[in-house]
Amino acid sequence: MTNAVLYERDGHIATITYNRPEALNAINQELRDDLNACWETFRDDEEAWVAIVTGAGRAFSAGADLRGGARPVGATHWETPSFTSFESGMEIWKPTIAAVNGYCLGFALTLAAACDFVIASERAQFGFPEVRLGIPTIQGAVRMPGRVGWQNAMELLLIGERVDAQRAKEMGLCWKVVPHDDLMDEARALAERLCKSGPLAVRATKEVAWRGQQMAFTEAIRFGETMRKVAGAVEDAREGMAAAREKREPQWSGR
Ligand code: COA
Repeated sequence: MTNAVLYERDGHIATITYNRPEALNAINQELRDDLNACWETFRDDEEAWVAIVTGAGRAFSAGADLRGGARPVGATHWETPSFTSFESGMEIWKPTIAAVNGYCLGFALTLAAACDFVIASERAQFGFPEVRLGIPTIQGAVRMPGRVGWQNAMELLLIGERVDAQRAKEMGLCWKVVPHDDLMDEARALAERLCKSGPLAVRATKEVAWRGQQMAFTEAIRFGETMRKVAGAVEDAREGMAAAREKREPQWSGR
């Protein structure tokens, strides 16, 4: 790990910060490696229940580093796993929040759209500039139609112009647009609300929601009902029911 991406945890809330502000957090190989390591840390850290991802300086991230420096894809790339990054499908069932503080372009937008919530500063701008560079965007193309509907996805992907926070909200890309100085407080407030729910129930629900979309209905219900048995047998499920009966706040253990 270098310091190209920072990982901090306060209680159950982890904050992942793109930290290359002098280049608007453009994603070079160093930043890419750090980002992957941070998501793995978050996924595996039992005390981390919710992640907020944001950018240092005036950008969330300007996307891939146009000056190059990324490791070339090897001739045997089909042998390596596809899901090595959060955007490409690394399985993380804990809730994730993108706090978008400025430019959020290309691969950074793919990452924001992989988060469960996008909160945007009024200064945020979103876009897939790839086609204006003559190159396709692949993960963005796979993810966006489901996220914002076909026409909005094509607006972003094929026109390649940036849209502001209000337009992003209108297309359903953002959950909320907030004054710039309130961005992190709003993201933390949301994270704290998420931490009031049983963390294992949250993860089971998110996994069923995600996998359920890719399954036939009957299989999705069968999978979900099996998950209910598994996730319903944990300590926190007993605690949640006991707390409700005793009219007190539950004390989640994550077990
Ligand atoms: N890769 C590498 N460096 C980048 C970068 C990128 N994607 N985006 C910005 N930077 C660097 C600039 O080169 C500049 O560095 P310098 O001060 O050493 O010259 C610094 O970040 C500030 O960028 P600048 O262009 O001066 O800021 P701006 O406010 O005028 O414009 C953008 C901001 C985001 C509109 C503009 O930087 C831009 O279009 N960047 C490229 C976005 C892009 O196409 N990304 C690829 C996605 S696949």
